[in-house]
Amino acid sequence: MRIGVIDSGVGGLSILNAVRESVPAQYIYCMDNQYLPYGTKSELFIRQRLLQLTRHLLEQYKVDLVLIACNTATTQAVDYLRQQFELPFVGVVPAIKPAAHYCGIQPFAVLATQATVNGPYIEQLVAEFAPKNDVQLIASSELVLLAEQKVWYRCDVTTEVRRVLLDTPLVQSKAAALVLGCTHFPFLADEIRACLGQSVRLFDTAEAIARRVKQLQLQFGLSQQEDGVADVFVSTAALDLIQQGRLAELGFGQHQCWPNPAGAEQVYSSVSSLS
Ligand code: DGL
Repeated sequence: MRIGVIDSGVGGLSILNAVRESVPAQYIYCMDNQYLPYGTKSELFIRQRLLQLTRHLLEQYKVDLVLIACNTATTQAVDYLRQQFELPFVGVVPAIKPAAHYCGIQPFAVLATQATVNGPYIEQLVAEFAPKNDVQLIASSELVLLAEQKVWYRCDVTTEVRRVLLDTPLVQSKAAALVLGCTHFPFLADEIRACLGQSVRLFDTAEAIARRVKQLQLQFGLSQQEDGVADVFVSTAALDLIQQGRLAELGFGQHQCWPNPAGAEQVYSSVSSLS
């Protein structure tokens, strides 16, 4: 079984780690770093882009299932993609339902990208699952870029995350929980807790998504991975040397830059030769 995973950056890895543990498969992770961040792009752009990326995963890798490991892309494009392809899609949306369940009638907050926060999908989720809660929606693209810095370059971003959060109403709010409505944000959980305090419960979707992928694998009768097939990391813009060196640690055995940069002779590079 081959599973395509799409995100603008490293965010999808916060989901992939959980999915890998419960579903043995070959994973093809497609990171659209050429257009990072998605949160500031239009719905039309995100739909067209996801269409291209899904086509590439299908044509080049014959994937059996696509995981849109990005709240922004899911809320803007997953319904559209389901109309375009005969393929199971798993999307990721902010964990409003479990947060509402945990909070009762207490207020809570959702931290996501501009596109997610301003789109109609989130309104529907709040109306359906948290009609009695005061739900504060907060957007940040800067946190997306800080998560990239932390994952790729192991930067200490504590001060910057604090500065961003202090600029939002979050610190003063009485929120009992914070929904991490962007897949990049679980990578900043420690920094967020250090700023907001340990009593605020954080919610993400990784475990729920892993269960959903497993369910679809069984439902569609998709076979398990043959041993020894390396996971592939596809980037849509070149990676620098530090990023290339991190791929093996992140669990990838091959790297492909797509489309191939002019002059580069082969599509595939083995990760071990890069690191
Ligand atoms: N990781 C993505 C999300 O869950 C998008 C981040 C971005 O590119 O803005 O929304």
